Amino acid sequence: MKLGPRWHSRIERQGSSFVPPYPHRRTDPANTFELVRLYRNSLISVFSKRDYKRDVISTRFGLLDVHTVNTVDLVKEALHVHHETLQAKTPQMRHALKPLLGDGLFVSDRETWASRRAVVSPIIHASRVKDFAPIMLDVVAEWRDSWLALGDGAEVDVLAEMAELTAEIISRTVFGRRLGREFTAEIVRGFSQYQAHVDQLDVLSLIRAPDWIPRFQSRAARRALRRVHRVIDDIIEEFAQGRGDETAVIAQLFSSRDAEGNKLTREAIRNEAIVIFMAGHETTANTLAWAWYLLSQSERVRTKFHTEIDALGHLPGFADVRELIYTRSIIEETLRLYPPVPILGRQALDDTQIGDTFIRKGSVVMICPFMLHRKRSIYSRPDYFIPERFDERIAKRPEKYAHIPFAIGPRICPGLMFGLTEAIISLATLGQQFDIDLKPGHEVQPVCRLTLRPGATLPMLLRRRQAQRKAA
Ligand code: HEM
Repeated sequence: MKLGPRWHSRIERQGSSFVPPYPHRRTDPANTFELVRLYRNSLISVFSKRDYKRDVISTRFGLLDVHTVNTVDLVKEALHVHHETLQAKTPQMRHALKPLLGDGLFVSDRETWASRRAVVSPIIHASRVKDFAPIMLDVVAEWRDSWLALGDGAEVDVLAEMAELTAEIISRTVFGRRLGREFTAEIVRGFSQYQAHVDQLDVLSLIRAPDWIPRFQSRAARRALRRVHRVIDDIIEEFAQGRGDETAVIAQLFSSRDAEGNKLTREAIRNEAIVIFMAGHETTANTLAWAWYLLSQSERVRTKFHTEIDALGHLPGFADVRELIYTRSIIEETLRLYPPVPILGRQALDDTQIGDTFIRKGSVVMICPFMLHRKRSIYSRPDYFIPERFDERIAKRPEKYAHIPFAIGPRICPGLMFGLTEAIISLATLGQQFDIDLKPGHEVQPVCRLTLRPGATLPMLLRRRQAQRKAA
């Protein structure tokens, strides 16, 4: 059976709007073998043209029932109303990440999750973002200066640059400001090696094998794990000796107590530090990389963006973030088109029902923000890049359960405001200085492993903006 081209990568333009690339939508059904291949290549390629219009897609992967729910009401039921039954992550996710995160918030459920959520969420919550903003501003200013030193027209891999920038921000936030870039790079290398050697497809789960059966882990994955854990344990020891940066998240984890009034163990602190680092770094990096790509393809949006950031007349500060409404709309539209976490998966802890669909205990329920965000019954011209949809001065915001790049319900991303603020500050600060153009001839194709990226690299050219050259 022919699967056709993997990507709709032709950029369609209509007037001043355009359709950026999205995965090819099959018109014919795929068999299990092909689904597994597509799943391995890129998780979001499995859905057909018909799936995008459907409300529930029920299928069977081996012995595992998988239900993908795809309406605003059903998303609300799955992630909010039935949170108690559907709070657990999928066996795939748990087995892939547990060796790295232990009982950390991201992969835990029930009492452990509730207890950790109550500790971690207030530390990175919206109300705390102003305390972390100076780190964001410092790191972005360092990046602007290092880009200026490269000279006009320099080629950079914007995906790698954004990954390093956001890693540095989250690293200083979690571990303190004194450790330097080599420390951050060491942790990121460990994560990347672990991710590269971990199989996303846990075949044992497809035959409903119980959790206690150990999953295979390659030697390379175990080596990467040991490396990350050792580096972070050393830092935690520094904090335990009273030598850590007191403003860092780790220091706050040390002084926190759970619902029973107990202090977190060293291992729990390590697990939550890794969760925050991991959850808060690649997601924001991908958002920024996609935003630069989208801006490079739309002269109309880029002009409006420049008008807003130039009107500031100074470097953006934390207080300006709420005024940068169009910049925020660009980020939100980027998150709609390319949600960094394009699929949310849950496993039913008990029998339940969503809408008319019976969900058997142990089945997997998936919510696919990537597909929901492109549903014609929810968004007009859903594949087009139109930031104005999120411009609160002229449009009514899409409803809460229709725009879910940060998930929704009790497990909603606690770093939502942190991530949004970081993305707005970075885009506005670098956008004041640079026009960033796609390298001629480079074709962008979305790839989804754990997160959704614009390919393996994103080569772009940094051009100093005319207005800035005149001012210099
Ligand atoms: C644009 C940036 C970001 C996006 C799109 C994003 C998205 C998400 C999503 C979709 C989830 C839920 C995953 C699921 O339930 O399966 C999540 C969870 C989480 N995120 Fe974010 N995130 C971003 C930035 C951040 C940042 C900056 C931090 C930390 C400072 C952070 C910390 C977390 C944590 C700790 C969780 C686990 C919450 C739980 O399981 O209760 N995220 N994020």
